[in-house]
Amino acid sequence: MNRHRLLLPALAAVMLVACQRPPAGSDMPAKPANTATAAAPAASAAAPAPTTMKPATAFTPPPESAIPEGPFGDMVREGRELFVHTAQKAPAYVGNGLACANCHLDAGRQPNSAPLWGAYGMYPAYRSKNKHVNSFGERLQGCFQFSMNGKAPPLDSREMLALEAYAYWMATGAPIGVKLDGAGYPKQGFKPPQPPDYARGETVFQRDCALCHGSDGLGQKVAGRYVFPPLWGPDSFNWGAGMHELDNAAAFIKANMPLSRGNTLSDQDAWDVAMYMDAHERPQDPRFKGDLAQTRKDFHDTPMSLYGTTVNGHLLGSRPARRQGSR
Ligand code: HEC
Ligand code: HEC
Repeated sequence: MNRHRLLLPALAAVMLVACQRPPAGSDMPAKPANTATAAAPAASAAAPAPTTMKPATAFTPPPESAIPEGPFGDMVREGRELFVHTAQKAPAYVGNGLACANCHLDAGRQPNSAPLWGAYGMYPAYRSKNKHVNSFGERLQGCFQFSMNGKAPPLDSREMLALEAYAYWMATGAPIGVKLDGAGYPKQGFKPPQPPDYARGETVFQRDCALCHGSDGLGQKVAGRYVFPPLWGPDSFNWGAGMHELDNAAAFIKANMPLSRGNTLSDQDAWDVAMYMDAHERPQDPRFKGDLAQTRKDFHDTPMSLYGTTVNGHLLGSRPARRQGSR
């Protein structure tokens, strides 16, 4: 198709820029050139009780070129492949058109997009989402079930081992149990000046997002594979995913989108476009048992979730998106 010829060079250019330029406001290069070791000074400072507030701790993961030879390095590389080409490498566990790295940018290295190096040392951890202490493996399983709209690989599966090896390796030298600078999303204190608004969000979307994600938000494919991932619809994350919550989406978008131009949207624009994105239908929450109101009460009882509420005249979750001919 004609558009593909246009799209491929455009994508290459976009990716090149994205790889070379660190997001504005980030104090770390997106690709830490060849600096194998990096600033982790506060890591060696005496660790006070974990409940006290600590200054941010800087960390830079080792470069990919430092993945060792041999069986361990092979497993790390396998995990990286899985993280970047999830549907191709773990088809049994993926139910949409996304890859882990679509949301955890730069193959899980980019600060402020929930990088793997910022996550690994923070588990086991209690999660209010499922009300128990989760191992790191269970946290990965959650992203398969919700963000990837798929099935959780068993904890003792090869897929899980590979992903854990990759995350463990990327956290080489990071302190345990310390929230690192750039871990997770920059959500703290990130509030909309005015309540987010659907109509304003649509304007932002058409201006700043549609070029890549499509004016219908369904992403763009080349040769059957997404080069720009869908933001809603049957191939996107489902209603149980973290990205459907406004604060997660707004913080991710503010820090990382438009791709390679993170931190250029105003706070209001980021919240408005997050609301617009998350007010579209997507695959059903897998915990849904037939009653929308009950599912909202059980799992979405927060103003950050629009699931089970009416926006723009539509009751969200009442007509979830389905892939043609599946499920
Ligand atoms: C649609 C976007 C999306 C996709 C795709 C996705 N994730 Fe996530 N992931 C998130 C969000 C949102 C969070 C929560 C971040 C937060 O709360 O700060 C998260 C959290 C995580 C965490 C914990 C991060 C932390 O700092 O505690 C890990 C680990 C993780 N994801 C791994 C994966 C893996 C592995 C895959 C692929 C199988 C994947 N994710 C796919 C959006 C996504
Ligand atoms: C220059 C192209 C481009 C623009 C413009 C852009 N994005 Fe993206 N976006 C991408 C790409 C490519 C990815 C996947 C990144 C990867 O895999 O490395 C992505 C990922 C995402 C994701 C996570 C994956 C998913 O599909 O859910 C969200 C959410 C997102 N973008 C929202 C937005 C929003 C909102 C805007 C407008 C403010 C925007 N993007 C503008 C290219 C773009």
